[in-house]
Amino acid sequence: MRSYKTIKSFLAICCFVSPTYIIYRLYLVREGPPCMKKSCGCETCITDQGVSHWFDKRFNSRIEPLLTSDNQNIPPAVLLWWLGLQSKHPKLSFVHSRLFEIMPKSDPLKTDDFCRCRRCAIVGNSKNLKGSNYGELIDSQDFVIRMNRAVTKGYELDVGKKTTHHFMYPESAQDLEPNIHLVLVPFKPRDIWWFSNVLSNGNSASSYTRLKRYIKVDKDKAAIFHPAFFKYISDSWTEHHGRYPSTGMLALIFGLHICDQLSVFGYGMDSKGNWYHYWENNRLAGAFHLTGVHNASFEAKIISRLAEIGKIQLYRGRREAS
Ligand code: C5P
Repeated sequence: MRSYKTIKSFLAICCFVSPTYIIYRLYLVREGPPCMKKSCGCETCITDQGVSHWFDKRFNSRIEPLLTSDNQNIPPAVLLWWLGLQSKHPKLSFVHSRLFEIMPKSDPLKTDDFCRCRRCAIVGNSKNLKGSNYGELIDSQDFVIRMNRAVTKGYELDVGKKTTHHFMYPESAQDLEPNIHLVLVPFKPRDIWWFSNVLSNGNSASSYTRLKRYIKVDKDKAAIFHPAFFKYISDSWTEHHGRYPSTGMLALIFGLHICDQLSVFGYGMDSKGNWYHYWENNRLAGAFHLTGVHNASFEAKIISRLAEIGKIQLYRGRREAS
């Protein structure tokens, strides 16, 4: 009697589940999984169109962020602009050959997975991180992107300890833990020379500051920021305010292109416009904003606008002491 009841309820379940499952399968074949209809697998995606005209006018998904063998074309106009940023008499052919010696074959960040929901944290170096307690939230993201001389040891509670990508240029270079992707930001031709040297025989090139001869880095995970992507940010996002965009701005727009959702931490100057760091007590060393290299207030406006339209989640931290 009991087993009869069990069989009956089993059959009842089968009668309900099977047709539902068949209908669902048919739906998938015809329509694709629900995420195929959106630009990613998250509830909202950075690349969702029509949210903001201001954003859609600037964001160009066709421009790829990394220089790879598959994406090695540097249009002459980009090359001229890029080489002119810091050096007046660059040797074009030399830079070109060095570039192609060290770039990876393909973009490690690209996927064809439409259902992907990649959540990222970009962590700038602002002092507003001090006492913020953001560490856990930062570490919970899929990618954590840091930059320049960022340190985590001793600051884990506020900045977290996970890093997947680290942006740097020769003057801001430091050793990285294994498994972290180094992204070189080549601000000038000599940066390419330095990069290929530190990845091979050791560097002997000099700069306005002492450069590291070697850095500990996972060579297979090293990548170069594409000069065309750099120019795109200068043209479309910072619109030529400042001589060129800051590392933080480059990293943030990079995040918009490679992530589906983006949380932004550690951006924010003090009331006088100084870019103080969370690991330093550099009250006297902040006049950089007056040099005109980057335009901190214009960049801050872009970041606020992105937050207003919901393309990023901006965590402002604690107000910096001025
Ligand atoms: O100073 P540094 O360039 O290493 O900092 C990385 C980035 O963090 C900057 O390029 C800037 O975009 C951001 N930053 C900021 N406010 C600060 C310090 C840094 O917005 N107080």
